[in-house]
Amino acid sequence: MKGRESGMPEQHMWETFFDIPKILESLEITSSLMTVVELGAGYGTFTIPVAKRISGNIIAFDIERDLITQLKQRAQQDNLSNIQAELRDFVDHGMKLQDSSADYVMAFNLLHIESPVALLQETYRILKVGGKLGIIHWNYDPSTPRGPSIAIRPKPEQCINWATQAGFNQLAQTDLKPYHYGLLFQK
Ligand SMILES: C[S@@+](CC[C@H](N)C(=O)[O-])C[C@H]1O[C@@H](n2cnc3c(N)ncnc32)[C@H](O)[C@@H]1O
Repeated sequence: MKGRESGMPEQHMWETFFDIPKILESLEITSSLMTVVELGAGYGTFTIPVAKRISGNIIAFDIERDLITQLKQRAQQDNLSNIQAELRDFVDHGMKLQDSSADYVMAFNLLHIESPVALLQETYRILKVGGKLGIIHWNYDPSTPRGPSIAIRPKPEQCINWATQAGFNQLAQTDLKPYHYGLLFQK
């Protein structure tokens, strides 16, 4: 099931909302990473820069066929062979990855979905011990130019609570100005 309010404005506008190098840096998405999983890759706004930065592969899931097709095209244009773009509903069907197989999972602009704890439990399952979970989300502020409605927009404390319920330890919280916050957890 596609997460509620998971749409985005057109790609160019969407990509003006983020300082991508700052986000990747502050969430410890570093060159040494081998297996990264991205939940809801969208336009590949983060997939492409992450693929360029890491040593290994990024498995990028999305439920929208057109977005997966577009991401594969972007990867090809940029000559990136380390992106595995997969059409998948990870809410209904999980991730079909082995237990303890990933080094890092990205959940960016996603956790307003209906069942965040179940998804975070599945995330915990696939991460290696010591593996990390990076979350970003829109600030709880109605004046942001986009983002899910305030009624369902999680505050950082809410995400921390969900991730803790799933078994994670919190490592850091950052202000990703102008519109987002970031959270880093470890299994
Ligand atoms: C708001 S967008 C964020 C995209 C990207 N993470 C970013 O920050 O640029 C959420 C994405 O999650 C995808 N999505 C929502 N529910 C999903 C599900 N159940 N399984 C897989 N992808 C899903 C949507 O299709 C959309 O591309």
